[in-house]
Amino acid sequence: MGLLLPALIALVAAVIGGLYILGAFRKRQPGEPPLEKGPIPWLGHILEFRNDTALFLQRMKEKHGDIFTVQLAGFYFTFIMDPLSFGNIVKEARAKLDFNKFARHLVKRVFDYQPTDSDHELLHASSNKHLMGDGLEIMTQSMMKNLQSMMLHSIDSTTEQGAWKEDGLFHYSYNIVFRAGYLALFGNETAKTCGTLDKAHEVDRLESDKFFYEFRKYDKLFPRLAYGVLPPREKMEVERLKRLFWSTLSVHKLSEKENISGWVLDQQEARREMGMDESMRNRHLFLLLWAAQGNTGPSSFWLLLHLMKHPEALKAVRNEVEELLRETGQEVKRGGPLIDLTRDMLLKTPVLDSAVDETLRLKTAPVLIRGVMEDMSLKMADGNEYRIRQGDRVALFPYSAVQMDPEVHPEPHTFKYNRFLTPEGSKKTDFYKNGKKLRYYNMPWGAGVSMCPGRFFATNELKQFVFLMLTYFDFELKNPHEEIPAIDVKRWGFGSMHPVRDIQFRYRRRF
Ligand code: HEM
Ligand SMILES: *[C@@H]1O[C@H](CO)[C@@H](O)[C@H](O)[C@H]1NC(C)=O
Ligand SMILES: *[C@@H]1O[C@H](CO)[C@@H](O)[C@H](O)[C@H]1NC(C)=O
Ligand SMILES: *[C@@H]1O[C@H](CO)[C@@H](O)[C@H](O)[C@H]1NC(C)=O
Repeated sequence: MGLLLPALIALVAAVIGGLYILGAFRKRQPGEPPLEKGPIPWLGHILEFRNDTALFLQRMKEKHGDIFTVQLAGFYFTFIMDPLSFGNIVKEARAKLDFNKFARHLVKRVFDYQPTDSDHELLHASSNKHLMGDGLEIMTQSMMKNLQSMMLHSIDSTTEQGAWKEDGLFHYSYNIVFRAGYLALFGNETAKTCGTLDKAHEVDRLESDKFFYEFRKYDKLFPRLAYGVLPPREKMEVERLKRLFWSTLSVHKLSEKENISGWVLDQQEARREMGMDESMRNRHLFLLLWAAQGNTGPSSFWLLLHLMKHPEALKAVRNEVEELLRETGQEVKRGGPLIDLTRDMLLKTPVLDSAVDETLRLKTAPVLIRGVMEDMSLKMADGNEYRIRQGDRVALFPYSAVQMDPEVHPEPHTFKYNRFLTPEGSKKTDFYKNGKKLRYYNMPWGAGVSMCPGRFFATNELKQFVFLMLTYFDFELKNPHEEIPAIDVKRWGFGSMHPVRDIQFRYRRRF
């Protein structure tokens, strides 16, 4: 009898505590954005969010307007859907809105990598040096060589002239761009370890191809891995794949390679000097591979496909490419030298630049997230202010908020290759909403502290790929009337979208 009361009190406390943790008592306070706790305690709206993020956020926007808070798996996310207000979030001091805390959490869960305090600084120092400015020249040259070797080998000179080869366009583009990028970043085999130079080339081709298939397996599991909803069998598969990547990319293997990019080398060197152990450094290599290689392949597919489906766009890009080759006195000939496509040439392609931006506008959809470090108030462009609680998260989904807004980009679902061109043919940067000029009108790279440090290199990769395809090959869809495949809606929020299915095409050498 004496024990019953304390037991009852403990039970009630536990239930109340549980409900509290499940968010049952959270109420919208005056000054806070509209609150959506969702149909399920704690989980909130996560099922609908995960099912189709863009559709869900559209629904919320129609219901609540430009700012609202939703519960997703125990966290409260405040989404800002008005692009005129983005600047206040992107530029908010780190003391209030922080990127690192959230990113570290994800990196640990998905890559088993434990970041150090200086990770972000190291990344940015090395990216500034090697993925921008003069360093970019070296990266671009290396990418160039590797792309040509991958592309021309896939249909080598012994193939009868005029013979077509068939492939899935997504598979082809992703495969070529992945392998070339991988070799350019992580180095190639040497004649010394392989015996001869030809042998080294061959090992690189075969190994990178095998690696690509394993990478794709992980790639497909990634969204559910990031959400933490993989069933046991697939969890085991992820463990196997991670181990494979760690050993394939290991510090030890790296030491036997040549022409490793400064981007990878500097970051490894810094970690070694800090005393990070080797297995952790191997994990970091896979993290870099993932960041660098997961988006460019799919984007190169969409770019080429949009051009193929829009003959006037393809023609405009082709004219630009041919003009550049003429200007630099280059011509492709059987047995002749390869094209030397320099960084300088890549700076003179406004039409191709616009086509790239347009492709990314249509097919890149990251969710940008910041952790709220202290209670704060958030000012919107319309003058309203909202209170945001410490421990919550603030998020942007620029795809719905701006990239698909018909007021900013008329006929937003249509590919217009010259959308980002002025009538004079230079880069267009004037886009408006409510009569106000927008700073953030296309955000495939994110913004602020976490903005993609590889964006200049990535843009060059996409341009090089298209430039070389046009120069070396004739190509066409197997069925020219086939529609552009739909976007796989299970991947909203992770960067470049994938198609729900591949689309067959054929190509042949032009010389
Ligand atoms: C079309 C290709 C690419 C797209 C669309 C893309 C997009 C993005 C986006 C949206 C982010 C920010 C994520 C966030 O704010 O949470 C990001 C981050 C990052 N990207 Fe890219 N990226 C591409 C290619 C590359 C390449 C080629 C590299 C490296 C060679 C690269 C390296 C990185 C790294 C290291 C980060 C993390 C930045 C940080 O933690 O501050 N990306 N990328
Ligand atoms: C899931 O998304 C599809 C379209 O992407 C939609 O038709 C369906 O209603 C959604 N289901 C739920 C439960 O939200
Ligand atoms: C390795 O890559 C460099 C630079 O991209 C290239 O010049 C070299 O020929 C490649 N070597 C081999 C053996 O593939
Ligand atoms: C590739 O590495 C080898 C050996 O370190 C070097 O001799 C060569 O110049 C490098 N090639 C390029 C294009 O950097």
